[in-house]
Amino acid sequence: MQLFRTKEKLKAYLGSITSDNSSLGMVPTMGALHSGHLKLAERAVHENDIVLVSIFVNPTQFDNKQDLKKYPKTLTQDKELLYSLDREIIIFAPLVTEIYPEKVISGKYNFDGLDKMMEGEYRTGHFDGVGTVVEALLTIVMPNKAYFGEKDFQQLQIIRKLVEKLNLPIAIIGCPIVREATGLAMSSRNERLSNRLRKEAAFIYKSLLEAKAKFGTKSANYVVNWAQKEFDAHSDLKLEYFSIRTSKNLKPVVRKQDGQKYRAFIAVYAEGVRLIDNIALN
Ligand code: PAJ
Repeated sequence: MQLFRTKEKLKAYLGSITSDNSSLGMVPTMGALHSGHLKLAERAVHENDIVLVSIFVNPTQFDNKQDLKKYPKTLTQDKELLYSLDREIIIFAPLVTEIYPEKVISGKYNFDGLDKMMEGEYRTGHFDGVGTVVEALLTIVMPNKAYFGEKDFQQLQIIRKLVEKLNLPIAIIGCPIVREATGLAMSSRNERLSNRLRKEAAFIYKSLLEAKAKFGTKSANYVVNWAQKEFDAHSDLKLEYFSIRTSKNLKPVVRKQDGQKYRAFIAVYAEGVRLIDNIALN
């Protein structure tokens, strides 16, 4: 397995192994890999000749510095997990100075409003940080395809917008959410929950499924009010937001329209750990 720390060495290596007709798939991550990340890498293996996974805990996307400090760094374990795939994976784990040669600050992006609500509203500056690192990573590697999870659906739509605005010839592939047996969406943050709360947190997905069933016959407003009440009655899970929006542009629903795709989005605190999830409603 090849691991690179600098863009020069990585680019030289990629130049030596790629040709005009070989395809390169990339999976950007912050490490602490779990089955959700591995599914993205497996899909990339299936669809490309060469696969690169980047591992970089991006400081500028953390609005909460404690969260950055606590972010698990498990490179040895990550390498082992990637080793279990049936293709040799290239790892790019850049030093901070490779991505931020001068100051560790984000650029400013116009995502046409996609960054203004939900995660953007509650995590100031988060998506400028994501935009900065994803632009840097994609332009260093220049893959044919890049894989992102629907777990972070708002991020996925923002990255599609970024690539469109920068005119990068890279296909952005969205991949389904991978869940634990209880239904809880996989996340490195789940490790910070006690066993009891990890089981309790299955309530998040259960509520999304119920919301989906209700959305078949009820209005978006009705479903949002219902969800708020469900969480008010749940002392261990503190709801930050529950929102129903159009899938593509993340616009709030005024009245349901035929042919329009909708999604429900949720953020919840459990024992101080922030968990997010979402579901397609139709
Ligand atoms: P990270 O949280 O490490 O996630 C890397 C990728 O894995 C993202 O595209 C995320 O949506 C996907 N992913 C995480 N958990 C998943 C799950 N349970 N099912 C499916 N996909 C899942 O997202 C980031 O890193 C960063 O913001 C990044 C894009 C790398 C920029 O720093």
